[in-house]
Amino acid sequence: MKPVVVGISGASGSVIAEQLVEALLTRETPTALVCTNAAKMVWQEEMPESFASYLSAWRESPFFTSYGINEMSAPIASGTYPTGGMVIVPCSMASVASLANGMANNLLLRAADVCLKERRNLVIVPRETPLHAIHLENMARLARMGVQVMPPEPPFYLKPKGIDEVVDYFVERILVSLDVEPGLSDRHVYRGSSDREPRY
Ligand SMILES: Cc1cc2nc3c(=O)[nH]c(=O)nc-3n(C[C@H](O)[C@H](O)[C@H](O)COP(=O)(O)O)c2cc1C
Repeated sequence: MKPVVVGISGASGSVIAEQLVEALLTRETPTALVCTNAAKMVWQEEMPESFASYLSAWRESPFFTSYGINEMSAPIASGTYPTGGMVIVPCSMASVASLANGMANNLLLRAADVCLKERRNLVIVPRETPLHAIHLENMARLARMGVQVMPPEPPFYLKPKGIDEVVDYFVERILVSLDVEPGLSDRHVYRGSSDREPRY
């Protein structure tokens, strides 16, 4: 199986990245991780343990590889190295801007740029609020190139009981977008309200 590349950049939402990596490794999906310096700073603010401690736990898995942000000679920096696509989760507006403008001056951006040029699946989970016109234009530019732009919006219609349920739902949506899962599990599918009269 080709590895899925997971890029973590410096936007809020470290827990989504953490849960996604766990989900990929549980499914024995080869996972190649690259994380920006800003992402580690955000991680420190949002997570109960350091990024380094998660990293050392993930390294126990034979399905896990990680690269440094400046390791430009890593295999994922080359289009010749086959991957099953990439997700940037969470994706900062700075990384969105670089990607939308073809700038690839770190390994995360280069690996994503490779996905664009090789027409591979690329999913981004941009997180910022409010968004200004340049943010929106950059995301529109990427969407027009086939990038799946998935802001981590809660599924209010499923009435999640807290952040854990929102993260669980969102991680599964990413797995589906990456073709790791064939579809959403029943608990994440909206079936409509049974007591509502059908509208024609
Ligand atoms: C605690 C914290 C939270 C942040 N949250 C966001 C965010 O939600 N979205 C965003 O675009 N930038 C956010 N930033 C700013 C980015 O980290 C900053 O723009 C950084 O340069 C992004 O670099 P990177 O794309 O290389 O990771 C945050 C920074 C900190 C310290």
